[in-house]
Amino acid sequence: MSPQPTLRILDHTDTALHPAYCDYVSRVFTQADFRRWCEWEQWAPGYLAYSLFEDGRVVANASAMRQRLIVDGEEIVAFQFGAVGCLPESRGRGLARRAMEAALAACGDAPALLFANDSVLEFYPRFGFVPAPQSEFEADYIAEPAPRRAPRLDLADPATRDAFLALAARAAPTSEGFATRDYGRTATWYAANGYSAPLFRIDADTVVFAQEDDGVLTVEDVFAAAPSHAALAAALPRLIERPIRALRFGFDPRTLWPQARPSGPDRDAGLFLRGLDPSRLGPHSRFPLLART
Ligand SMILES: CC(C)(COP(=O)(O)OP(=O)(O)OC[C@H]1O[C@@H](n2cnc3c(N)ncnc32)[C@H](O)[C@@H]1OP(=O)(O)O)[C@@H](O)C(=O)NCCC(=O)NCCS
Repeated sequence: MSPQPTLRILDHTDTALHPAYCDYVSRVFTQADFRRWCEWEQWAPGYLAYSLFEDGRVVANASAMRQRLIVDGEEIVAFQFGAVGCLPESRGRGLARRAMEAALAACGDAPALLFANDSVLEFYPRFGFVPAPQSEFEADYIAEPAPRRAPRLDLADPATRDAFLALAARAAPTSEGFATRDYGRTATWYAANGYSAPLFRIDADTVVFAQEDDGVLTVEDVFAAAPSHAALAAALPRLIERPIRALRFGFDPRTLWPQARPSGPDRDAGLFLRGLDPSRLGPHSRFPLLART
């Protein structure tokens, strides 16, 4: 019998093993890549990968990122799971279970959450996770473009990235209902992979990820030390090049934009919770898109 793969818990200091982790991720998830994110030195102490190694390769893994979760006005330490998987040729050997159980044991009694794809909706309930709904939000809003656009920020630039992370660390949560704090290094993962909307600087303490398409401006996220509806409304004409008639939001915007309303279920979210009653999220919530690992 061949020996069982060895569990290693990778943190930000295990740079010699990060390439093996990145190879695993790109083999299991066609849409996900950690290489550029690692090159950008975004792996920080709160992110741990419970990786099973065999012949120098990661064959299965579950990662957990420490969260300062906001639930119904309360800040809770929780862990968000991601990169859960197993190489195709190693599936059915109980390896993902081993990785999940190791990561869950390390979480202790703290709640856990994750965003699942359609192929694993029956997998996570085996580990005590229960599904929870997520909503989409929108608002009618008519705006014309201003003569000058707000400055664009490029997170590939190290100084810009550092300034963004510093702002993200002190930014207010987007919602008191269901959100999280200090997730700059999750947002940079989306930017490193070209998945986030363009990033605009509104003022020294406010940046906005936003993308205009066919008369609709999607405000994907707002990182602001002191979020203000008036400041965002004043800035919107500087984020667009053509007139808009509606806004969509990548988070629950009802604090920042009281006119926004739930527009339907987010059927692709795949939110699962463990150790946290889904009813505490209220009937409508939206965990920030750029905070999902
Ligand atoms: C889902 C996945 C992680 C399972 O890996 P695996 O190593 O084959 O899983 P295990 O052998 O440890 O199986 C653990 C248990 O889950 C069950 N299981 C495995 N895949 C499952 C699936 N897709 N749906 C439901 N149950 C599943 C197994 O039957 C086993 O049950 P048991 O322990 O009660 O006997 C793997 O198929 C994978 O990597 N998929 C692609 C990546 C992915 O989509 N990850 C999720 C990202 S949100």
